[in-house]
Amino acid sequence: MTTVGGTAGSDVEALFAAASAACAHAYAPYSQFRVGAAVLTASGRVFAGANVENASYPAGLCAEAVAIGAMVAAGERHITAVMVVGEGDELTMPCGVCRQRLSEFSGADTPVHVGDKGGVRQSFRFGDLLPFAFGPSNLAR
Ligand code: THU
Repeated sequence: MTTVGGTAGSDVEALFAAASAACAHAYAPYSQFRVGAAVLTASGRVFAGANVENASYPAGLCAEAVAIGAMVAAGERHITAVMVVGEGDELTMPCGVCRQRLSEFSGADTPVHVGDKGGVRQSFRFGDLLPFAFGPSNLAR
């Protein structure tokens, strides 16, 4: 079986297709920077989101937040792979807040794939993107 950064090739294709389609629908009139994200869940489903900006800038949502919201609303809780697709020359890495959001539902070994319209450019291990995270266990007293 072909894998990309620890994710089955067919799953990478599904994640990339979903994130790219969402990216095309991003609402980013202020930054002009469109982002699409998709998460794969333990049950094999894919949920996508796009960034949704707002005239009141801080009210804007990142693509990852929208994808996670769709996942949770569908009753899913466990992310097994992440895809982020953005524009620009540099890798569109999940921002710090989105790394924290992803950490709630991901594991240290969850693959995070980052790409652009041409495909996946680089894959990361989630634990390398947010080491020593604050998480649910901190609140278990
Ligand atoms: N953005 C995301 O959607 N995800 C990230 O992880 C990085 C940034 C969006 C937020 C904003 O709409 C635009 O990219 C520029 O910051």
